[in-house]
Amino acid sequence: MQRISTSMLLAAACVRQARNDRDPDAQQDAALARACLQGCGAAGRRLLRAVDHAFGRLLLRMAETLYLPGIGAHYAWRKRHIRRWALQACTQPGAGRARQVVILGAGFDGLSLRLLARAPTLRAFEIDRAHGVAIKRAALAEIGADDPRLTLVAADLAREPIEAVLRAMPGFDAGIATLVIAEGVLMYLAPADLRALMRGLARTLPQAQLIATAMALRADATPCFARQRPWVGGWLRRAGEPFRWGATRAGLDASLREAGMELRYVADPYAPDDPDPSPGEWVFAGSLMPTADGER
Ligand SMILES: C[S@@+](CC[C@H](N)C(=O)[O-])C[C@H]1O[C@@H](n2cnc3c(N)ncnc32)[C@H](O)[C@@H]1O
Repeated sequence: MQRISTSMLLAAACVRQARNDRDPDAQQDAALARACLQGCGAAGRRLLRAVDHAFGRLLLRMAETLYLPGIGAHYAWRKRHIRRWALQACTQPGAGRARQVVILGAGFDGLSLRLLARAPTLRAFEIDRAHGVAIKRAALAEIGADDPRLTLVAADLAREPIEAVLRAMPGFDAGIATLVIAEGVLMYLAPADLRALMRGLARTLPQAQLIATAMALRADATPCFARQRPWVGGWLRRAGEPFRWGATRAGLDASLREAGMELRYVADPYAPDDPDPSPGEWVFAGSLMPTADGER
C-alpha cells in the first residue's frame, strides 16, 4: 500500500478548508492541491475521496483527534502568517522589495502562485524532491497555472550543495533582493545538514530575507507538537519524515544563529486574538546570517 506523506496531508487539509472559503485564492490553492493529490497515486486519490464525502471527512476528523488534535487549523494559522509576511516582502515599495522568491520544500502549496499574481515582476523558484516536483509540475499544467515566472527544481536539500542548485536554476539572479521561504521543512534536516544549507544559501544570497518554521522542543528535547500523541513519531518515521531539529522558545534565537539564521520576529502562538490552534511550531521571519570569509 502506498504511504501518505505530510505534503499529501497538507494538500488534503487545503482542499477541506476551501469547502468553506469562496475566496478565489483559496479556491486556486485547492484546485492545485486536488490535482497534486490525483497525481499521488492510490493513496492521494483515497485521501481526496475522503475529503469529498461527509463520512470520509468524519473519519479524517477522528484520525486528527487520534493523532494530533487541531493540526489542520494549525496549518491554516501558519499559512495565514506566512502569506501575509511574504506578500509584504514581495510588494512593499522601495529597494528592499524582494524581486525573487526561493521556496524550499514547497510541497503542493500554492503560495508561489499567490505571490506571482500580486507581484507582476517577481520570479519564483521552488525546490523539492524529484517525485513531488514531477507531480506538481503536471498538476500546474493540468489546472492551467504553469506560469513561466515559476521554476520548479528537483533537489535533495540534505544532500545536494544548495549553491550549485541555485546557480543551475534558469533565470535565478544572485544579485537581486531575494526572499527565502522554508515552511514546514527545516525540521526534517539533521542539524549539520541544516547548517550546511543555510551557510550555502547565505554565501549565494548574503542579503536574503527569510520566512521559515521550526519545531518546538519538548522537555526531553524531542521536536514535536504540544498535543502530538505518542504514536505520531512512529508514523513520521515510517513515512520517512522524522522530525530531526527543533528549538525551545527561550533557545530559538541561539538555535537559529547556530544554524545560520538571524531571528527578527516570531508569530505569537498565544496571541489572544489569533492563537495557534495546535502549538508546537515556531513561525518566524528573519534573515540569513552572512558567513565569515572562508567559512564553509
Ligand atoms: C510538510 S511538507 C511542507 C510542504 C509545504 N512547505 C507546506 O507547508 O505546505 C514538507 C516538504 O518538504 C519536502 N522535503 C523534506 N525534506 C526534503 C529534502 N531533504 N529535500 C527537499 N525537499 C524536502 C518534502 O518533499 C515536502 O514537500
